[in-house]
Amino acid sequence: MITDIELKNKWFEFFESKGFKRIAGYSIIPENDPTVLFTTAGMHPLVPYLLGEPHPEGNKICDIQRCIRTTDIDEVGDNSHLTSFEMLGNWFLGECDKEKMIEYSYEFLTSPKYLNLPKERLATTVFAGDEVAPKDEVAYNAWKKCGIKDVFYLGKDNNWWALGGGVGPCGPDTEMFFDTGKPKCSENCSPACDCGKYVEIWNDVFMQYVVEKEGEKVKPLKKPNIDTGMGLERTVMVLNGLKSIYECGILKDVIDFISSKAEKRYDEDEKSTRSYRIIADHLRSSMFILGDERGVVPSNVGQGYILRRFIRRAVNCARNIGFDTKYFENIIDLFVDRHGEDYADIKRNREFIKSELNKEVEKFSKALEEGHKEFEKVILGIEKHKQFAALKGEVVPNIISGKACFRLYDTFGFPFELTKELALERGYQVDEEGYKKAFEEHQEKSRTASAGTFKGGLADTSMASAHLHTATHLLMAGLRKMFGNQVQQKGSNITPERLRLDFNVDHKLTQEELKELENFVNDAIKKAIPVTYEEMSISDAKKSGAVGVFENKYGEVVKVYTIGDVSKEICGGPHAKNTADLHHLKIVKEESSSAGIRRIKAILD
Ligand code: ALA
Repeated sequence: MITDIELKNKWFEFFESKGFKRIAGYSIIPENDPTVLFTTAGMHPLVPYLLGEPHPEGNKICDIQRCIRTTDIDEVGDNSHLTSFEMLGNWFLGECDKEKMIEYSYEFLTSPKYLNLPKERLATTVFAGDEVAPKDEVAYNAWKKCGIKDVFYLGKDNNWWALGGGVGPCGPDTEMFFDTGKPKCSENCSPACDCGKYVEIWNDVFMQYVVEKEGEKVKPLKKPNIDTGMGLERTVMVLNGLKSIYECGILKDVIDFISSKAEKRYDEDEKSTRSYRIIADHLRSSMFILGDERGVVPSNVGQGYILRRFIRRAVNCARNIGFDTKYFENIIDLFVDRHGEDYADIKRNREFIKSELNKEVEKFSKALEEGHKEFEKVILGIEKHKQFAALKGEVVPNIISGKACFRLYDTFGFPFELTKELALERGYQVDEEGYKKAFEEHQEKSRTASAGTFKGGLADTSMASAHLHTATHLLMAGLRKMFGNQVQQKGSNITPERLRLDFNVDHKLTQEELKELENFVNDAIKKAIPVTYEEMSISDAKKSGAVGVFENKYGEVVKVYTIGDVSKEICGGPHAKNTADLHHLKIVKEESSSAGIRRIKAILD
C-alpha cells in the first residue's frame, strides 16, 4: 500500500534529484483572474511564468497545489469525483524537451525506487495532429524508446490541454494510464473509452501554443514550456488497486471517523455512502477555502456562495446519516493536521476555519428542519394538484416552481442547488429560470425598499450607518496602504452607533499603527472628497480596479463606489455624499477576531 504522503514525498525526492526546486503551493483563490472562482490546476497560478516572466526560483520547479473544481459537484459521492484535490506538478519554464520529460516520467513510474510499476501495465496517448498542431511523433517515439508497447494517437478531445476558459497557454499533451488488466472492451479499446480498462495517472502538457484573448486563434508560444500534473488522490487509489478514492489517504481517515459517530453505517445504503463522502469532500473544500490566506467567508456571492453551498450540503448530509455536526470540528482538525504541513496558512488559520464553519452550520441548522417540512409541503401540494388535474384528464409535471425554490432559499437558507438535489431524489425537477426571476425581483424590491428607508422616517439612523459605511471603506483603503493589497475585509457589522471591521493582518496593531490609520481616515475626511458611484457590469468593475467580491451569481450589474483616488470598491451602498459628512473618526478598540484576523471598532464623533 502506498500512501498519499509517500507518493508526495517520492515526487519531491525524484524531481529534486533532477534539479527541480520545490516551491510552495499557491492560494486556492486565483489572483487577478475573473474567469474562475478557484485554482483548478497546478499551472493556474503559474500562468505569468508560462507566458515568459522569469520565476524567482528558476526555470525548473515542482510543487503540490490544492485545487477546487466545481464542475463535477453533482457527481461527488460516487467512487471517483471530488471537488477538492491536490495536484503534484513539475515545470520546465521556457524549455520544451519532450524526450527528456518522457524519460523522467518513465523513470518515476517504473523505477523500483519510485513507483515501481511494471512497464507492461502502462499505456500512453499522444496527440494525433490537426490543422493547428502536427502529429506528435517526438512524443510517440520517446515512449517507444522507453519500451512502452501501447502508445495511442488520439485527437484534440483527448490530447490537447487548455485552461477551462480557453484563454492562456495550451498545447498537445501525452497522458499516462495504468492498465488495470481488464480485457479490452472491443477491438478499438483505448484510453479514450470509458470501459475502465485504462485509468489516467499523469499528464505531461507541452505548452507550445497560446490563446491570448477570448475568441482569438491559437498561436505558437515564443518560449514553450512543459507543465505536468498528477492527481494525488486518484493516483494513490489506482496504485493500490482500489475502486474508490475514499478508501485511501486522509479521506479514508475522515470516513472512518464519521463511521465511529454516525447512526447509519457507511455501507447501509447508497444514500448513506454518498452522504458520508459528500461530508468528507465538502468539508475539505470548505477548509481549503476558509483556511486560505486570501480566504473568504460564507456569503451569497462568488466564492462565498460556493463555500456556503459546501457547508450547507454537508449539514444536510449529516442529517441523512444521523451524524452530529458538532463533530465537524474534529474533521477539520484531521484535515488541518494533514494539509497544514504543505500549506502554512491552513495551519495558521485552524481556529478561524472552525469558528467560521461553526457559525455557518449554526445559522443553517436552525432552519434545516423547518425547511425540510416546507419542502415536504411543496411536494404534497404538487401531488394534490396532480390528483385534481387527473380528474379533469390533465397532466401536471413534477416541477417545483421557481417561487417555491426561492422561498426555501430566502426563508430557510436552502441553496437552490440543494433544493434541486432533494427534488431529484424524489423524482422532481426544479424551475431554474423561475427561480432566477424570483431572485431578481427580490433584489429589485430590496433595492427600492432601502432607498425608501433612506428617505423616510428612519433617515437619521440610516444616515449614521451610511457614514460609518463610508468610514469602513476609508479604513480598508488605509489598511491596504499600510500593510499591502492582500489585506481584505473579512467581516463588517455596522450599527448606527459604531462600525466593526475584521481584516487579515497577522499581528496586533501597535498604538502607532492605529494612530497612522486613524490619521489616514481623518485626512481623507478633512479633504472633503465627494463619494460617487457608478453602476457597471462586473467585468467593467474588475477592469476599473475596484476591490470587492466580483462574482454575483444572478445580478450582472454592480455599484462601484469611488472616494476620489483613495478608494474604489464594489458595494451596494448607501454611503455618505462627501467624506466631510463623517466629521471625525476615532478607533475605540483593536482586538483579535480569530487566527490571523484583527478586529477594529470605531465611531464617528
Ligand atoms: N495542467 C495539466 C492538468 O491539469 C497538467 O492536467
